[in-house]
Amino acid sequence: MSVELQNLTIVHYPDPRLRKVCDPVTEFDGDLTALVKRMRDLMHEGRGVGLAAPQVGVNKRLFVMNITGEEKDDLVFINPEIHDMHGVREAEEGCLSLPDVHVQIRRATECTIKARDLDGEPFELRGEDLLCRVWQHETDHLSGTLILDRMGPSDKIATKKKLKELEASYREKRRR
Ligand code: NI
Repeated sequence: MSVELQNLTIVHYPDPRLRKVCDPVTEFDGDLTALVKRMRDLMHEGRGVGLAAPQVGVNKRLFVMNITGEEKDDLVFINPEIHDMHGVREAEEGCLSLPDVHVQIRRATECTIKARDLDGEPFELRGEDLLCRVWQHETDHLSGTLILDRMGPSDKIATKKKLKELEASYREKRRR
C-alpha cells in the first residue's frame, strides 16, 4: 500500500470533498483494492456500518459496508445504482463524517442495488430495512448528499449547535 493510502483518514463535515459529485471507477486495479482495504479498516475503527470514498477524501463512486461488525461480512459496491425502491420508514442515522450527529431520516424500506465488485464484475442484490437504508445513505454520499440534507425541521434545530462546533473545528484545523 502506498504511503498516501495509509495516510487517508475520515474527513468530517464541512469538508468540501463531502459535497462533490463523484466520478465512476474505471480502473479495477491494485490501487482500487488498496483503497478498499484502507476504507474497510477505517470503517471498522470507526465502528460504522458503511463508508463511502468521499469520506476519505477520494471522489470516486464506491463504498464499503458491514452491518454485523464481523470482517467476513464486509461488502464492497463499486459504481452502485439504486433501483426499484418501495415503502418508506423513518429511522435514526448517523455518519462517520458527522460525529455525534444522529437524526431521523425517511428512506425506502426495500430496493435493488446494481454495482460492480473489485474485479469489475457486475452484480445485483435486493435488500430490505437496514441493508437497503445503508445502500441509500452511502449512495447519497457519492452525489455529495449528507443526512443533513434529508433531516426534518426538529433535527435541524437539535443539531444546530453540534454542526457549529464541527464547522469551528474544521476552520481551526485549516488554520494549523
Ligand atoms: Ni455517512
